[in-house]
Amino acid sequence: MKITRLMAGELDAKQVSKEVRLCGWVAKRRDLGGLIFVDLRDISGVVQIVFSPDNEAIFAQAETLRSEFVIEVFGAVQARPVEGLNRNMKTGEIEIYARSLSVLNTAKTTPFYIQPNITADEGLRLKYRYLDLRRPELQAALILRHKVSAAVRGYLDTKNFLEIETPQLTRSTPEGARDYLVPSRVNPGQFYALPQSPQLFKQLLMVAGYDRYFQLARCFRDEDLRADRQPEFTQIDIEMSFVDEHDIQQLTEGMVRHVMAHSLGMDRPEIEFPVMTYAEALNRYGSDKPDLRFGLEIVDVTSVVANSELKVFADAAKTGTVRAINATKCGGYSRKEIDELGQFVAKYGAKGLAWIVVEEAGVRSPIAKFLTPEITANLLSTLSATAGDLLLFVADKPKVALQSLGALRLHLADKLGLRRKGEFKFLWVVEFPLLDWDEDEARYVACHHPFTSPLGTDLAKMDSAPGEVRARAYDLVLNGVELGGGSIRIHQRELQQRMFDCLGLTPEESQEKFGFLLDAFEYGTPPHGGIALGLDRFVMLLAGRDSIRDCIAFPKTTSAQDLMTVAPNTVPAKVLNELKIDVRQ
Ligand code: AMO
Ligand code: AMP
Repeated sequence: MKITRLMAGELDAKQVSKEVRLCGWVAKRRDLGGLIFVDLRDISGVVQIVFSPDNEAIFAQAETLRSEFVIEVFGAVQARPVEGLNRNMKTGEIEIYARSLSVLNTAKTTPFYIQPNITADEGLRLKYRYLDLRRPELQAALILRHKVSAAVRGYLDTKNFLEIETPQLTRSTPEGARDYLVPSRVNPGQFYALPQSPQLFKQLLMVAGYDRYFQLARCFRDEDLRADRQPEFTQIDIEMSFVDEHDIQQLTEGMVRHVMAHSLGMDRPEIEFPVMTYAEALNRYGSDKPDLRFGLEIVDVTSVVANSELKVFADAAKTGTVRAINATKCGGYSRKEIDELGQFVAKYGAKGLAWIVVEEAGVRSPIAKFLTPEITANLLSTLSATAGDLLLFVADKPKVALQSLGALRLHLADKLGLRRKGEFKFLWVVEFPLLDWDEDEARYVACHHPFTSPLGTDLAKMDSAPGEVRARAYDLVLNGVELGGGSIRIHQRELQQRMFDCLGLTPEESQEKFGFLLDAFEYGTPPHGGIALGLDRFVMLLAGRDSIRDCIAFPKTTSAQDLMTVAPNTVPAKVLNELKIDVRQ
């Protein structure tokens, strides 16, 4: 009779004396007291196999086993003797007494250990990605990713969303990055762009009456890569008709709760979704994606120090601003450590970092002599300072003061261990500016994308003060990472043209670029809006990883290379000839 295969990680004491068949990899082999112990690993976990010299033939075979050999074992589940119990192992109460062993394949010595927390160079791990993926921690990340995707699909299906695929070979879609281009052989000299997002297609699906669309959509952006940015990544992309921003936010919150319940096994995830305007986020946290797992808020002390003798403060009070952070409990930092903080903010353009250490007996600070007792007392109360605190100040233009203190805030939190994994702090950031001034191009660019609707109350400013117009755009932030972004769209042709005017696009240029969308707007377009969450980032945060590379099966390096397949690479001249492409050296 054929014995069905069981999974290693699913065995437990309930199966004692059961005959089982297991297949997997040799994670470890130990020879102890005349017995051979082998840890067999498959995708579900690890279980211990015992080979006894009583069975001479398979004992001799077991002696040949090496790490990562692929084996099939038949045997009986038995309880481990008390001295053999392993509480750190899920299957640590049992082991398999082997009756037969087949080596299905041998393996060379791997270039790094197939174990958690290895220190092997990431380049080496990416070259042998299939071995890195064999490590339980990456398997856990990809299993979690599957659960998140399945939960998203399940939830949106119950809410009457349709999953609709949109093209990969298309025209440029503006999301602010460079396009990846694909040459067309049959149309020499012409190129498709890979989508930076399905933005225009999902809006056209609303025009077509599909009401509620979603897609786990692959997006491509040629931009500078970081730990949370890849050249190709996946969005949970959503669009809905006849809604306002609250409908979309509510739907998203329900989806996030459902995903966390189903992927992390949280019973009723107690998560909140506070809302903050962009202006407030910048003022209090120096960032449009604040990490709310800790305080260390930025405080405006301009009026407190405006009349001080310290020239940098008094000058900044006239032409800029003075902002401060109370680094609570950091009063014990050495001069070297405080200097290091000064060097840190210098990277963000701050010209200095003034500091005050608060002690029981008073304050200690190089700037103390420039501050009257009243100003000092006022600073301490404004910053709620008590003995043991370190107060840090930047005087500069608002942008520099806020950005540098915003970055310092995160740096301090890292040093203090305040960015705890497993804690999830969400935040909606709303009322983003509609437009950003681009210094290089000397024109406005869309802060989100050009199809984002301005806030009704700010419409009048579109001509007089475009930089002050706020958008009906929102970002979902999780633990200081921009998890998603979306907006209510413009659905009227005239308003869309006014937006293009603000961006410096003539009617001819906008017709050339987005004619198909503008045409569509003339055939009964419903009001609509949507959002896209970064799936890779979501999984990264849920898995407590520091890089989205750990949550993508085959990611690229920060220089956009695939080290395993060696891509990108050169192609034969014949292929280039067919495409009518000359490569300049
Ligand atoms: P946006 O450009 O804000 O919006 O992207 C939405 C989310 O996608 C994720 N993301 C990325 N993840 C990994 N690598 C990247 N290079 C990368 N770029 C973006 C982020 C981000 O929040 N069409 C709009 C959405 C809309 O308006 O509905 C859009 O793409 O998590
Ligand atoms: P100085 O008078 O230049 O020696 O500066 C006195 C103190 O003020 C030093 O601790 C400097 O780091 C700090 N400082 C200088 N410029 C600034 C600034 N723009 N913002 C905050 N602190 C500053």
